[in-house]
Amino acid sequence: MRAVLCKEFSTPPKLKVDNIDVPTLGKGEVRIEVHACGINFADVLIVQGKYQTKPPLPFVPGGEVAGVVSEIAPDVTNVELGQRVLGMSSQGGFAEEVVVDAQRVLGIPDVMDFKAGASFAVTYGTSHLALDHRAHLTSGETLLVLGASGGVGLTAVEIGKAMGATVIGAASTGEKLKIVQDHGADHLINYVEDDLRKCVKEIVGGIDVVYDPVGGEPFLQALRCMNWEGRIIVIGFASGTIQKIPANYLLLKNCAAVGAYWGPYMDKKPEVLLRSLSTLIDWFEAGRLAPHISASYPLAKADAALALLYERKATGKVVLTTRD
Ligand SMILES: NC(=O)c1ccc[n+]([C@@H]2O[C@H](COP(=O)([O-])OP(=O)(O)OC[C@H]3O[C@@H](n4cnc5c(N)ncnc54)[C@H](OP(=O)(O)O)[C@@H]3O)[C@@H](O)[C@H]2O)c1
Repeated sequence: MRAVLCKEFSTPPKLKVDNIDVPTLGKGEVRIEVHACGINFADVLIVQGKYQTKPPLPFVPGGEVAGVVSEIAPDVTNVELGQRVLGMSSQGGFAEEVVVDAQRVLGIPDVMDFKAGASFAVTYGTSHLALDHRAHLTSGETLLVLGASGGVGLTAVEIGKAMGATVIGAASTGEKLKIVQDHGADHLINYVEDDLRKCVKEIVGGIDVVYDPVGGEPFLQALRCMNWEGRIIVIGFASGTIQKIPANYLLLKNCAAVGAYWGPYMDKKPEVLLRSLSTLIDWFEAGRLAPHISASYPLAKADAALALLYERKATGKVVLTTRD
């Protein structure tokens, strides 16, 4: 089969399509004929050797896919041959076929196409788990989303609105902010050109929940905009800087800094993750969520696709397709 191979860790990422053996199917596993693979920032970090896990070389990156079940192990009962599914593959997704643990495979509704299916679990899953399970966002609260036009950021905007919050989206360009507005944000801030703290003060006074996939200076600015008993959620460090938190800010306003790392929930608390995804699929079917797929490339152009995220040019999701 054709697959995208990472043969060396490098910055910028260097990837090549090659013919490799199809993966073998083990106990409790499902083979998916891949139609689309979603790209996440984690893929960009893994192929540079900058992620918390460093796979042995060579490897096929790709943490989430959508496609059709083409083979199942005899002990698998949750999916059927021929079913349209999404798969949370962790790795191996940038390929024509991938083998995934059956517990990480979910059926997708007819109204969800493969590109949307491959853009769904990681981003919407992270944002819902963070806002609901970790930060307990409630209706009527103010939510500030940093990096709001990005993969996870845009889903936090939509989910924040679905949960009844007043959403302030912050992004670095007017073009990105337009997309944030189209996905439901009530207020917009250009946090590169304008002073984040001053803008928040003028628009809503203060923030109850901050959703931060960017890290570095924007986190520190947002921390200073918090309301009493606010929660600031650490999602990631797309800026490349892991900030240190001045604890006195947490103390003075009775605030909490909360980490939200989605992946480990599948092993540690699968019921929380699966309940969250089931809610999100219901919301999708009801038309309350609209995945924004801004670019789609064939496998052979994986380099160019990853470069969009690496160069801070991506909005919403970028996907790879296997049938072009
Ligand atoms: N905790 C979890 O479970 C989890 C799950 C998924 C992702 N993440 C993390 O969340 C972060 C975002 O992931 P993503 O997939 O949403 O990525 P993405 O689509 O590339 O979005 C990242 C956003 O960060 C902002 N940014 C600021 N400085 C940047 C820089 N130097 N390079 C690139 N982007 C920069 C950009 O918005 P502006 O240009 O508007 O600033 C961009 O829209 C990553 O750190 C990722 O590892 C965490």
